[in-house]
Amino acid sequence: MRDMRGLVSKDFAARFGARPEFVVRAPGRVNLIGEHTDYNDGFVMPLAIEQATWIALRPRADTTVNLYGIDHQELLRFDAARPEHGGPAWSEYPKGVAAALREEGLDLRGFDGVTACDVPMGAGLSSSASFELAIARALHAVSGWPWDPVRMALAGQRAENRWVGVNCGIMDQLISAIGRAGHALLIDCRDLTHRAVPLPAGCAVVIMDTMTRRGLVDSLYNERRAQCQQVAAHFGVAKLRDISREVFEARVAELDPVARKRARHVITENARTLAAAEAMQAGHAGLLGELMNASHDSLRDDFEVTNRELNTIVSVARLHSACLGARMTGAGFGGCAVALVEKAATDDFCAHLVREYSAMTGMTPMLYVTTGADGATHDAG
Ligand code: GLA
Repeated sequence: MRDMRGLVSKDFAARFGARPEFVVRAPGRVNLIGEHTDYNDGFVMPLAIEQATWIALRPRADTTVNLYGIDHQELLRFDAARPEHGGPAWSEYPKGVAAALREEGLDLRGFDGVTACDVPMGAGLSSSASFELAIARALHAVSGWPWDPVRMALAGQRAENRWVGVNCGIMDQLISAIGRAGHALLIDCRDLTHRAVPLPAGCAVVIMDTMTRRGLVDSLYNERRAQCQQVAAHFGVAKLRDISREVFEARVAELDPVARKRARHVITENARTLAAAEAMQAGHAGLLGELMNASHDSLRDDFEVTNRELNTIVSVARLHSACLGARMTGAGFGGCAVALVEKAATDDFCAHLVREYSAMTGMTPMLYVTTGADGATHDAG
């Protein structure tokens, strides 16, 4: 892996003529199970990953933010106390976070900073959420108010929903804020309570990037959200979370075929996610893998958010004897899948995947092995 801390710190020193006072890091994420459940007030079980957004910075006496983006080779300048829309697209994230924190009644100081990110963009590993939480952490470091991870995640989500205009749920921001090394987090997206669940001993989590990216993900995502909400309204409840499997089965005939499939995915996925947490707690890696397989099949057949390459990479992964389970991860339509693999055979599994997936698609997948990382942090530069 690249030395991201060194990268932003050195660039900061060259650009601002001093060592940074703080270095901030906020991770991307991979979701183990619990997909398209967060906006239905359901359960998710993501882990924070080693790839992250980094910011080297020093506080300023005023409220100006000067932020150089190494990936964009561009310097942003805005007033954290009075952010305004406009400028390069990536500037909307930090300005949106500043606006959300201001709405919270928090006083913001400015900073000079340099940022870089090694979460691949558009791959479904939440580079945006990691950027939002890194900005929140930077503003926390220079402004002096306490760090409340759930509140910061909500501010990041509000920035994305209201300022950037992407209608995401809470999973990505929350795991970037509260992740714990070696663990996945079982999150109840209704009340945002969460529990760390240890990754099964002897297993590796392999993230498999299909290298496909699909346009229109936002509109397809919004369409799925609307379909879920329609079923909830039909049943007279706030969210699909409120429909038990028994009630669903009893009244399923009232729904049209598409609504039926969408709701069935969410209702069964919530049950799978809770079962997966129990399996992990009990050290049953095999059962966790089976639940991941069932999750993918449900996302493919009922929620219909996979593409050919996601289905291919998951099938190829499952063919390897060390693979306990594999599924797409994130919003879908392209991007990444995730596999649970016997640790001792990780290298062989990765070689198998590169060979077979490349032969079938002509594309070389990017693979990342993760053991789970801590949520957003900062320390002295
Ligand atoms: C995206 C969204 C999340 C979540 C997932 C699907 O990553 O940002 O809030 O809805 O899709 O599980």
